[in-house]
Amino acid sequence: MYCLIRRVTGRGKESLEYRDSELLTDVLTIGRGADQGISLQGPDIEVHHARIARKHDGSLELRASSTAQVELNGKPVRVAVLSPGDEIRVGAHRLVLLPEQPGFDLAIQVEYGTTDDEAMLASGDFVKQRAQYTWISKSRLAWLLSSVVLLLAFIVPLAGLFSEDIAGMLRDQRFLPSDNFWSTGPLATAHRTPEIGNDCNVCHQQAFHQVSSQACVSCHREMHHHVPEDSDHHAALSDQQCQDCHKEHKEPGQIVRRDQALCTDCHDDADAIDAAATGFDTVADFEQDHPAFRLTLLEPEFADGDTRWQARKAGTDQAPLLEHSNLKFDHKKHLDPEGVELVGGKRKVMECADCHVEDAAGALMKPFTMAGECKACHSLAFDEQAPDREVPHGDVDVVLATLDEYYSKLALEQNPEVRRSSVRRRAPRRPGRSGPAPAPDQVLAWAEKEANLTAEDIFERSVCDTCHEVERIEEPEPGEAEWRIQPVRINSHWMPDAVFAHRDHAMVECEDCHEARESEQSSDVLMPGIDSCRECHGGTSSAAKLDSSCVDCHVFHNPSMGLLNTALERGVAARPVLPNEESSSQ
Ligand code: HEC
Ligand code: HEC
Ligand code: HEC
Ligand code: HEC
Ligand code: HEC
Ligand code: HEC
Ligand code: HEC
Ligand code: HEC
Ligand code: HEC
Ligand code: HEC
Repeated sequence: MYCLIRRVTGRGKESLEYRDSELLTDVLTIGRGADQGISLQGPDIEVHHARIARKHDGSLELRASSTAQVELNGKPVRVAVLSPGDEIRVGAHRLVLLPEQPGFDLAIQVEYGTTDDEAMLASGDFVKQRAQYTWISKSRLAWLLSSVVLLLAFIVPLAGLFSEDIAGMLRDQRFLPSDNFWSTGPLATAHRTPEIGNDCNVCHQQAFHQVSSQACVSCHREMHHHVPEDSDHHAALSDQQCQDCHKEHKEPGQIVRRDQALCTDCHDDADAIDAAATGFDTVADFEQDHPAFRLTLLEPEFADGDTRWQARKAGTDQAPLLEHSNLKFDHKKHLDPEGVELVGGKRKVMECADCHVEDAAGALMKPFTMAGECKACHSLAFDEQAPDREVPHGDVDVVLATLDEYYSKLALEQNPEVRRSSVRRRAPRRPGRSGPAPAPDQVLAWAEKEANLTAEDIFERSVCDTCHEVERIEEPEPGEAEWRIQPVRINSHWMPDAVFAHRDHAMVECEDCHEARESEQSSDVLMPGIDSCRECHGGTSSAAKLDSSCVDCHVFHNPSMGLLNTALERGVAARPVLPNEESSSQ
């Protein structure tokens, strides 16, 4: 909700003096707390006294905390629908709902009730009483005071405009006014960094000019567009200034708009998001109207002797969903509650964490590897009589070379007969003793044959074939291996259009979201659908669930789109080069 808050500062006979401020929030909170949208003081006011929110049907609802006293048009209420002209009383204070104001969802006028001391000060009696006893007449006093105000609030800080040194000096002095004085409020917390410090000029590059988006992207170089640059909506979005959505000096309002209306303005309107062309459904609220998640699935596609991975989108509501990583895997066997059988007959009960561990950011899972997560149980031994000898994991050519080497060496230094051999039985050849040695070509032929048989076995029936899809190439080119391990690509980001972090959900069992225990094929898709999220996450008008707005789960600046700064820099190519830029632009 975009709220206009009109704080009454004084009341003339006919006129009203007031100060307006804007606040962006989904819920306008009222209470004694400093974080409240409307902060009111008084002994009978609670920290969180009442709140006003927009309901799904568009009406405004006032809700008082269960122990708080609130009157609406003179009657005590707890929950009520508001309409313009309504008067709310909270303690000594009066809040009036104003007629609709263009650009605002809610306009409210706040008249602070006064204590006796304040009432006297405000009425001017205090000054009157004192002035009677001095030589200063009332008009002189007024002149004097206004000159002091002019000097302190305007002329002194203005000096800062002429010299950055003076400006800096003034800003560092606690008791002298500086240009901070004019500021509409403190900088957003995010901008209170050492590099910005008190240097207003990083943003206010030109006096009496609006802060330009260019000033913002000179630091924020990594900001991305929201829509592709060739989209019809691109121009409209990139014409917006950063400050249309990011309000500086508006604390306690946030610098980032978090209200849902910013997003639903377009996303609730099929035309505004080009639903027909983009294929996106309209979205109004996570709980009430949000489409089923569409997963990004990877599919291998074989073309021109090469495998390319195509990303395809498919809804979690479409069954059956399948994905092919080219790795074989059976969750059910590995997660057998009795455990899997290890060499030597022992059993080990496995858990998800044996293979899936959160990455450093706590968002997704770290990729698993054969060496790290599988090899302890799945050895790459190929010769039953030499269980310690393994082929290296990976490149087929290297595996074949290893086998060749192994069997050639064996053939040359050993008598081959003890093994399954097709070579004629011979007496073992011992060093220093001359005997009938096998002809070298026979030895090599044996070695080659053994290597081939073993290769056929590990690629087509056992070792590599356990986990991989292996293709046999019927007529390999010279120098090309006879087998090809189909490339493996494990999808690591199924929902790239949202931000999801496992760390936030440590209290939920893995299996509440992923039905892994029952899956026998790696092609099963184990991703949760929207219903499982809705058990806890509601929309912004939800009372019983987490109040989740679009920006809780989505980014606006989409890293898969182009950079904002390149577009802006293109747009301002004609900007004159400033003196201090000349040297750096060489
Ligand atoms: C991070 C950028 C940034 C910094 C740093 C910054 N401002 Fe601002 N300021 C803005 C933006 C954005 C606006 C609102 C739009 C505008 O008027 O250009 C603004 C508005 C203002 C306004 C109101 C002008 C108006 O037109 O509404 C004043 C006064 C002001 N700033 C003073 C200061 C002073 C004094 C400092 C140094 C202490 C400062 N600003 C530092 C970004 C900044
Ligand atoms: C002098 C460099 C500089 C300039 C100029 C600047 N910023 Fe920032 N901005 C920062 C730094 C540093 C941070 C804090 C670190 C971070 O979160 O990336 C920040 C944070 C932010 C954030 C993140 C707030 C959050 O809660 O995460 C927003 C939004 C933002 N700036 C918008 C703007 C806008 C809009 C302008 C122009 C009016 C602007 N910035 C100008 C340096 C700058
Ligand atoms: C149409 C509204 C809109 C405009 C225009 C816009 N932003 Fe944002 N920006 C958002 C929203 C919403 C978020 C919070 C969601 C997110 O993190 O992407 C955000 C987040 C940010 C953040 C903090 C998130 C982060 O990735 O660190 C920065 C910094 C930022 N914007 C800078 C800018 C700058 C600089 C410009 C101008 C060139 C700009 N924005 C223009 C809506 C906007
Ligand atoms: C000016 C209209 C407009 C506004 C405002 C807007 N969007 Fe969008 N959004 C679009 C359009 C158009 C697309 C489709 C882009 C495309 O063709 O890929 C889109 C796409 C998206 C997507 C899908 C991302 C993708 O391309 O895969 C998400 C998620 C999204 N918006 C979230 C948000 C959120 C969150 C906000 C509020 C912070 C927001 N949008 C505000 C117009 C808007
Ligand atoms: C022995 C190792 C191992 C264990 C234990 C294991 N996983 Fe997996 N997991 C894998 C492998 C391998 C894949 C990749 C399958 C593929 O190629 O798609 C995978 C993929 C996944 C995926 C994404 C794949 C998809 O299709 O959605 C999820 C989710 C997942 N596992 C959840 C779990 C959960 C939950 C547990 C515990 C109940 C668990 N896993 C236990 C090895 C394991
Ligand atoms: C704690 C030991 C252990 C670990 C670690 C392990 N496995 Fe297994 N795996 C086994 C056992 C035992 C079997 C035989 C199960 C059976 O046939 O009942 C097996 C069987 C398999 C099978 C064949 C399943 C079938 O359909 O017969 C594949 C494929 C497999 N594992 C892949 C992997 C992958 C990939 C990893 C690493 C991410 C891995 N395993 C980690 C013990 C393990
Ligand atoms: C227990 C299961 C398992 C066995 C057995 C296994 N691998 Fe793998 N292999 C994997 C996993 C898991 C990956 C992906 C992660 C990685 O690179 O470690 C992989 C990746 C590969 C890759 C890279 C594929 C790509 O596209 O990035 C090649 C090549 C490969 N293996 C070859 C082999 C060969 C050759 C054998 C037999 C000697 C073999 N693997 C045996 C599990 C296995
Ligand atoms: C609790 C988290 C959550 C909230 C809140 C949420 N979304 Fe989503 N949204 C998701 C997830 C997860 C996806 C699936 C993303 C993906 O598949 O890459 C998604 C997908 C989308 C998509 C793309 C749909 C498609 O067809 O590909 C759009 C657009 C979108 N959301 C807009 C919004 C808007 C607008 C709001 C606010 C009214 C919102 N979302 C609130 C989690 C959320
Ligand atoms: C609240 C639901 C939820 C819970 C609980 C959950 N996950 Fe996930 N998991 C997801 C979602 C959503 C994704 C997709 C994230 C994405 O791609 O952006 C995902 C993705 C994954 C993936 C595949 C992508 C990746 O990160 O590599 C694996 C593996 C996985 N989860 C394992 C686990 C394990 C293990 C646990 C328990 C420790 C667990 N998940 C708990 C919702 C959940
Ligand atoms: C058992 C309840 C539960 C379920 C189910 C659940 N979440 Fe959450 N989620 C939470 C809680 C609790 C937080 C932490 C809120 C916080 O820290 O403010 C959270 C935080 C998040 C956040 C971080 C932003 C935020 O709101 O603070 C995202 C994004 C998110 N969840 C998405 C999802 C998605 C997507 C699903 C479905 C796959 C899901 N959640 C399912 C309870 C749940």
